[in-house]
Amino acid sequence: REYNVAVLGATGAVGHRLVEQLELSDIPVKSLKLLASPRSAGEKLFFKGEEITVEVAEADSFEGIDLVLASAGGSVSKKFLPEAVKRGAVCVDNTSAFRMDPEVPLVVPEVNADQLQNHKGIIANPNCSTIQMVVALEPIREKFGLNRIVVSTYQAASGAGQTALNEFYQEAQDYLAGEEMQSNIYPTASDKKHYPLAFNLLPQIDVFEEDGYTHEEWKMIHETKKIMLDDMDASELKVTATCVRVPVAIGHGESVYFEINDDKATVHDLQAALTKAPGVVLQDSPSKQVYPQPIEAEGKRDTFVGRVRADSENPGAFHLWVVSDNLLKGAAWNTVQIAEELVKRDLVRVP
Ligand code: A2P
Repeated sequence: REYNVAVLGATGAVGHRLVEQLELSDIPVKSLKLLASPRSAGEKLFFKGEEITVEVAEADSFEGIDLVLASAGGSVSKKFLPEAVKRGAVCVDNTSAFRMDPEVPLVVPEVNADQLQNHKGIIANPNCSTIQMVVALEPIREKFGLNRIVVSTYQAASGAGQTALNEFYQEAQDYLAGEEMQSNIYPTASDKKHYPLAFNLLPQIDVFEEDGYTHEEWKMIHETKKIMLDDMDASELKVTATCVRVPVAIGHGESVYFEINDDKATVHDLQAALTKAPGVVLQDSPSKQVYPQPIEAEGKRDTFVGRVRADSENPGAFHLWVVSDNLLKGAAWNTVQIAEELVKRDLVRVP
């Protein structure tokens, strides 16, 4: 079977990579439609050497489409994906619009690909920070159990989208030229005040909830549970997060403290589990100064793990450092990987 595919939000930071990852994938593509807003309609992009013109997304754009890969923002997904499903298309959505819907599988193929079996037309791709953390922790959870996660993130500028990334580059140039930085997007376009990201750290990603956590932190907590608790009880895993935007272009870093259900497990045991884990590359050799770095993870599909240490005071507790390309495993690659899995399992059909 060959598939008519549409990419919604094809001109964005993730959209460009969706097209690139689709080209690299083994999904048999019969036709590709590139959709965006009227702002970029008429723009031309390449797919397998062929020039494709970007079209304005409308409900009828999805007529005859089998598979939609979406990354045009939550409100755009909410508006168009039900229309696409109505027209028979299966949608893999990179936005947060449907992630917590109990009817929608939230999938990281290395962790819970079997959830795809239950899809009703929409499959959600988790938040970028959630994905790389569960890829690193799932092989540990599987072998030793897991009851507590405390994570602090170091999230790259590009996670906020292409326009935001451009603002970050401009800020850096202005700062070095001794000019005033103009900030209109960071920490988040949807809040009132804006601060520069260049030469700065912003402990706010997305808007604040009433309990003082940001929505990004809320996503990490609840998405992690939805993905990992497939075969666990909700009360068995406690998760808390602090999310920070850092002046790095591409590649999120995370410092993760976690407690397992096995007091006897050693750092070596954890490293052995990580070495065998799908999608994980262990880069952990302190004596040789080997550890994951965003600049080296950029452009790669893997999740890089290092600095695995036992907590010095608390038995059964450990720390690790995890880095991945937020636009690839955190977004475009995980989305295309889900699509590959749907193709492999013959699930590209709306039940
Ligand atoms: P456009 O380039 O026309 O604005 P990013 O996350 O990098 O900011 O990218 C967002 C993507 O979503 C872009 O491709 C953008 O298209 C697209 N987009 C934004 N709003 C809409 C909309 N209302 N309809 C379709 N695509 C949209």
